[in-house]
Amino acid sequence: MNNKQPGKPVVQTVLSPALLNLYELNSSIVVIIDVLRATSTIATALHHGAKEIIPVATVAECIQLGKQMDAITAGERDGKIAEGLQYGNTPSVYTPKFVGGKTVVLTTTNGTRLLHQALEADAEEIITGAFCNLSSVCQYLVQRQKNVLLACAAWRNRVNLEDTLFAGAVIDQIKDQFEIKGDSSQIAEILYQEAKPGLFEYMKNKKASHYQRLMDQGLEADIRYCLSVNSADTLPVYENGRLAVRK
Ligand code: MLT
Repeated sequence: MNNKQPGKPVVQTVLSPALLNLYELNSSIVVIIDVLRATSTIATALHHGAKEIIPVATVAECIQLGKQMDAITAGERDGKIAEGLQYGNTPSVYTPKFVGGKTVVLTTTNGTRLLHQALEADAEEIITGAFCNLSSVCQYLVQRQKNVLLACAAWRNRVNLEDTLFAGAVIDQIKDQFEIKGDSSQIAEILYQEAKPGLFEYMKNKKASHYQRLMDQGLEADIRYCLSVNSADTLPVYENGRLAVRK
């Protein structure tokens, strides 16, 4: 029996960049998800008035572009400030006073890399999502009524909990207006329903890999912030090589 609901746009979920090639991106809004911490930092910096965030795939490119544009260079590798960059990937560093009106060139282990993979796969449109801008993401997707691909940055292609949980949170909010497709979408929503009462405790109890990595670096505050809902509720949209707040 064909259970396709006539007229509703479709939501699918990619749990790892390694699976991206199995999906059609050229007719979807692709939501780049990297909760710990790239897309949380992007939403926070833009919410605090940054002019734009330029996501680049390599540290060398970040340094070079930062010099050319006299911009802030930021990012990490394996959770630590990448050598040669001025700042890391802690969202709370990007205060209005520090980042207002400025350009930030950002490179991260998984999140900015996935964004470039989505570009190379001809994504029709790219936005970024995290718990701190959950409502803006959901309102936009419902308003646009186009097919959606929830793309989890994961960790070096290994599925992670936090990005999957965010995909589940989006599905939970928009499922009445969309056809939710694929077992990975079901997995994400089931996981979110289980974790919803306490995301931080859930990540702790399940010994989530990046939770452990960041806790080992004393970054509990980053984790708590990145799991807080709507603390930087703005919508980063990718256009002409940069992420900026949707007008
Ligand atoms: C990532 O790209 O996975 C994150 O930015 C890693 C981090 O910030 O620790």
